[in-house]
Amino acid sequence: MSKQPSSIAPIGVFDSGVGGLSVLKAVRKVMPQEHLLYVADSANAPYGDRHVGFIEGRALAIAQFLVESNAKAIVVACNTATAVAIEKLRSTYRLPIIAMEPAIKPAVRLTKSQIIGVLATRRTLESPAVADLCRLYGENTRIILQPCPGLVEQVERGEADTEFTRQLLGRYIAPLLAEGADTLVLGCTHYPFLEPQIRRLVGDQITIVEPSTAVARQLERRLMGCINVASAGMPQEHFYTTGAVDKAHALVSRLWGESVNVQGLV
Ligand code: DGL
Repeated sequence: MSKQPSSIAPIGVFDSGVGGLSVLKAVRKVMPQEHLLYVADSANAPYGDRHVGFIEGRALAIAQFLVESNAKAIVVACNTATAVAIEKLRSTYRLPIIAMEPAIKPAVRLTKSQIIGVLATRRTLESPAVADLCRLYGENTRIILQPCPGLVEQVERGEADTEFTRQLLGRYIAPLLAEGADTLVLGCTHYPFLEPQIRRLVGDQITIVEPSTAVARQLERRLMGCINVASAGMPQEHFYTTGAVDKAHALVSRLWGESVNVQGLV
């Protein structure tokens, strides 16, 4: 019989890089007492350009690190890693593993023009999971899939607000608006860090949907009975990167919103 994990055990969250911090922020808001571990696999970002076996290997190695760090649940805060490796992760580990997927279902509910645009990496958009979502929810809505090469790299470089990033966003989003999309799905966890730039580009009539809060709530439901409600002691966050630690320190601190310590992970 598997024993119930300790409620004070941490929650592990990982992404190909710093994008999953957008999900970590939602987890912190929804579950304020939890201890959190975050792994940014920045040495290997973007996953979107890697072959399937490589991404699966990285997801398993990071999950193993989180399990050895006593995590009571894992959030795969990466649409690409979810699309490629979620089945392997769930068949390897027995703890709750929460996945990301582009928020197509809520977007279909929100659109009035019945046209939505989905921004994500090519690998996510080519996945069977996204094909299933389009089949399920695309009956009365046109779902336009827009790959966005280069955006993950811009966020990883800390260049969310440069001319080049704005050009990329314009190139990817303008055709969606021209087709009549009134709702945009941010199908990559890096993209919420570009939301101010996207909002400036599209104006305030367009709905932008991203699922980090829904994912945090799903995590909370899965952990029911194992939530850390201890009022004593500060909840902690530990950040790890496979990339350069000094660069990660500056970037993670900026995106997280306060100066944090980042440790190296091989
Ligand atoms: N944040 C990841 C995602 O949600 C980026 C994937 C990548 O590195 O290609 O898909």
